[in-house]
Amino acid sequence: MPASKQAPTKREIILVSNRLPLSVKRAPDGSYQSSLSSGGLVTAVSGLTKSTSFRWFGWPGIEVKDPAEREEVKRSLAAHDAVPIFLESELAHEHYNGFSNSILWPTLHYQSGVIFKDAPWTAYKKVNELIADQVSDAANDGDLVWVHDYHLMLLPKLLRERLAQKGKACAIGFSLHTPFPASDFWRTLPVGKEILEAMLSSDIIGFHTDEYKHNFTESCATVLGAETKIPGKIQYKDRLVTVDKFVVGIDPQKFTDTLQKEEVQNRIRELDERYKDQKVIIGVDRLDYIKGLTQKLKGFDAFLDEHPHWRGKAVLIQVAVPSREEVKEYQDLESEISTIVGKINGKYATPDYTPLIYMHRSVPFTELTALYSISDVCLLASTRDGMNLVAFEYVACQAKRHGVLVISQFAGAAVFMGKGSITFHPANPNEISEAIHKAVTMNDEERKENYERLREFIYNNTSAKWGETFIEQLSARAGGAA
Ligand code: UDP
Ligand code: G6P
Repeated sequence: MPASKQAPTKREIILVSNRLPLSVKRAPDGSYQSSLSSGGLVTAVSGLTKSTSFRWFGWPGIEVKDPAEREEVKRSLAAHDAVPIFLESELAHEHYNGFSNSILWPTLHYQSGVIFKDAPWTAYKKVNELIADQVSDAANDGDLVWVHDYHLMLLPKLLRERLAQKGKACAIGFSLHTPFPASDFWRTLPVGKEILEAMLSSDIIGFHTDEYKHNFTESCATVLGAETKIPGKIQYKDRLVTVDKFVVGIDPQKFTDTLQKEEVQNRIRELDERYKDQKVIIGVDRLDYIKGLTQKLKGFDAFLDEHPHWRGKAVLIQVAVPSREEVKEYQDLESEISTIVGKINGKYATPDYTPLIYMHRSVPFTELTALYSISDVCLLASTRDGMNLVAFEYVACQAKRHGVLVISQFAGAAVFMGKGSITFHPANPNEISEAIHKAVTMNDEERKENYERLREFIYNNTSAKWGETFIEQLSARAGGAA
């Protein structure tokens, strides 16, 4: 039973993120339909619902003007403890596509050439203000508020001000799900100072790795002149903020349970039969330039080129989940990837063999687990990536096969899973090619040893543990149990 149901006197946990676990869309008949949202944030936070109960505030992904229709959307989301924050579409567009995904996201992932513009920044501030208004109204004195990710970096400050005006004292935690770049790179963002200041209104700030935590601390020291001598603490003006690494994870049980379903077992048998003479390499990524899809495909091309013996015997199944399709860089990437896929298949396909199966869509969870399970190798080539939970999910589905994880050294997950997997530099196609070769030729003993090491890691670092650890620390800051 969720913790708060056992003890009704406990304080409430309010979670705030841009993306809710369900995204709402309007069907052609005018009705509102919701579907599961994609991405690691939703996977991680959803994974802790078994052990912790909370109200989850965020943007429903669509503009709803009519008050009666707003009520309809609210009711359908309430069944999932989610509370929609409605935004006018132009404002949401400038906040989400404009500032968050065209300016902040690339900066956080070391992309150069980002062009700062005032209008999206103004919208970003406005949306953070609107969310602060609504969350501070909804919160009760003593609640814990846990803010997530780069869309809401100004929220801790705006929320703290509003809560104080309303006479409410709430501990505020912030978790970043992306990398935080080195301070010199962060300084390329003209409003970087304002963002750091706002984040420091949190009581605790969590990062996925020590490197991101270190970079953030350094940035606060160099950009704000904050005091950072005490490890894990940042003193800024009258505030002493805790900064720490919290290892995010998944709910591995959800995958093992799904694998037991008859429907999934049948699908696994079907796929096993289809690929019985081939090694299957799986890739699952949002279609995002940080995922290194171009690099991955070039590496696979180099592998088939340098190891002709493997032509006909190795297949790459790449799921590319559509993402942020209104942003130009994502549109350009889509065309580029389609072209490379065509070239690779054109070069190596025969009437009996398609080297690359490219799926540009989301896949149902049951199909995803079956695909993970039948694959001999999982290849992830991120040029930068906060964590990468696909790596965890692949391991969760490999109890029988002991498949090999091949992962870029620039994915946060490589810090924790590097031992037990094959790591590589994504900018070097030959290195990717050799990593694939090593993976498809690895002996059973080494595969088993690697699998067991990675399995232990994903079971010791679940999303539930991540959430409980964060909430425990936040609660201690607030002075009491959650
Ligand atoms: N995923 C999804 N829809 C799909 C395929 C995958 O939602 O069609 C999920 C996947 O299972 C994983 C998440 O998207 O939980 C991706 O998380 P990750 O941390 O790897 O990367 P992110 O997308 O957050 O950058
Ligand atoms: C990353 C971000 C999340 C985001 C997810 C999916 O994991 O850290 O905040 O929700 O990508 O992206 P989207 O733009 O669809 O929310």
